[in-house]
Amino acid sequence: MTQQKEKERTLVVIKPDGVQRSLAGEIIKRYERTGLKLVAMKFMLPTPEMVRQHYLVDPEWLRKVGEKSIAAYQKRGQQAPYDDPVEYGEFIVSKLVKYLSSSPVVAMVWQGNQAVGIVRKITGGTEPLTSDVGTIRGDFTIDSYELGDAGDRAIRNLIHASGTIEDAEKEIALWFKPEELIGYRLIQEQILYDVNLDGLKE
Ligand code: CDP
Ligand code: MG
Repeated sequence: MTQQKEKERTLVVIKPDGVQRSLAGEIIKRYERTGLKLVAMKFMLPTPEMVRQHYLVDPEWLRKVGEKSIAAYQKRGQQAPYDDPVEYGEFIVSKLVKYLSSSPVVAMVWQGNQAVGIVRKITGGTEPLTSDVGTIRGDFTIDSYELGDAGDRAIRNLIHASGTIEDAEKEIALWFKPEELIGYRLIQEQILYDVNLDGLKE
C-alpha cells in the first residue's frame, strides 16, 4: 500500500548544543507531530573522522557552503573572512569536526512524503540570526556567521538535516547499519496516505 514517495528518508542529527541545552525532546516533538515516521534513532559520540566524512558526502559541499556564507556577508554589506569559497569551506569543515565531536548527539532517520524538504522547512535556514520565526533554529538559538567566525568556531545551530535525497541516502548509510533502520506500519499513515479511507466508520 505504501508507495515510493511515502518512503523518502532524511537524516537529522541533534548537534551537541541541542543535547546540552536540553532541547532534544522539543526538537524530536517538532518532527514527530508532522506525521513523518521515525525509522531509526541513536544517542552517540561521533568521531572526528566520521564528522569529516559526513560533511564530504557531497563533493560540491565545500564550495557551496563557502559561497552561501560569503553571500550572507555581502547581503549585509560586510566583507567575508575568505574570498575563496573552497578555502572558506575547508575552514568551516575543520570547525564542524570539533563542534560535532565535542559531546553526544542524537541521530535519527525520518521517513514520509517529501521528508527531506519538510524537515528542512521545520529546521530553518543555516544561520540562526536569519532563520525564520517558527523554525527550530529561529526559535531556540541566536548564533550568527559573524559571531562564529569571530570566535574561530562553527555556527551552533542545534541540528543537521540532509539537504537532498541523494545526500540523505549517503548520510544514512554512514550513520546507521541497514539493520538499525526499522520497517514497520505506523497507524497514522492510513489517514495521511490511504486513498480510500475505508473502514474508519463503525
Ligand atoms: O546545516 P545546513 O545544511 O543548514 O548548512 P550547510 O551549509 O550544509 O553547513 C553545515 C553546517 O556548517 C551548518 O549547519 C553550520 O553548523 C556550519 N557552518 C558554519 O559553521 N559556518 C558557516 N559559515 C556556514 C556553515
Ligand atoms: Mg547542509
